[in-house]
Amino acid sequence: MKVAIPKERRAGELRVAASPETVKKLKALGLEVVVESGAGLGSSIPDTAFEAAGATIAADAASALADADIVLKVQRPLLSGEGQGTDGGDVNELALFKKGALLFAILNPHNSRDHVKAYAEAGVNAFAMEFMPRITRAQVMDVLSSQANLAGYKAVVDAASEYGRAFPMMMTAAGTVPPARAFIMGVGVAGLQAIATAKRLGAIVSATDVRPAVKEQVQSLGGSFVAVENDEFRQAETAGGYAKEMSDDYKRQQAALVAEHIKKQDLVITTALIPGRKAPILVTADHV
Ligand code: NAI
Repeated sequence: MKVAIPKERRAGELRVAASPETVKKLKALGLEVVVESGAGLGSSIPDTAFEAAGATIAADAASALADADIVLKVQRPLLSGEGQGTDGGDVNELALFKKGALLFAILNPHNSRDHVKAYAEAGVNAFAMEFMPRITRAQVMDVLSSQANLAGYKAVVDAASEYGRAFPMMMTAAGTVPPARAFIMGVGVAGLQAIATAKRLGAIVSATDVRPAVKEQVQSLGGSFVAVENDEFRQAETAGGYAKEMSDDYKRQQAALVAEHIKKQDLVITTALIPGRKAPILVTADHV
């Protein structure tokens, strides 16, 4: 069986769906692994590292995907008319797949219905990695958690580099510099990591979420919790542990509270999501 790892072609995407370490694991299962030349460069993995792990390097996407039974990708394939790929021109990655191939990637299926239809028409069996059940046995395949964790960390690191001052309080002979105030909106995996990272850098951290269960988690990380704690809030968590979409009335009250709070903040990091929907807009031009 042939497994292909093509280069990611969506703008801004630096990741690759396999590393030399995972190539070795696939080889140990008896699979033939083909990596498109340059696929790892955005992640600082040269072709030679994939080759040393046992992969064959294909010159381009067409030869990597030809006859591939399994295709591993980070993002969903580009379809014709979606705009230019990173190597220029109109690209239709899906057209290079063999009929009956299995595709594994972060497919964003709720908001990419035209893609889902295209997979069906191309006879490709597509597996959306974000639908992996979040059970203990599947944790090693939980792409939402692994990527959210990094995103929460990176958001704070990026914020620290953009912010013109220091995060921690600095007491010097010349005077005292106050600590930065960081406000984290949405306290799932990304938000918790953002709180922990901002705390470690010395900021005063506050956070908000619509799920009451996270209040304690924020406090245990040394942050303060800011939310409209009414009846709707007390019932805002689904049985699966996710947020529900809140009523317009709740959103208005939340926006008013947040507007007052944001005025006193140096940094705001937004991570709020509702599975299968567009992320709620929590910071508006007015707030800014
Ligand atoms: P997510 O990425 O779906 O959402 C991020 C956060 O945004 C959530 O905390 C959500 O409540 C919040 N949010 C939504 N609407 C908001 C609004 N209007 N204002 C403020 N905040 C808003 O969440 P994620 O990171 O996937 O985590 C969801 C739950 O799943 C958590 O309880 C987490 O601990 C749990 N989880 C369980 C895992 C397991 O293996 N059992 C693995 C990962 C997460």
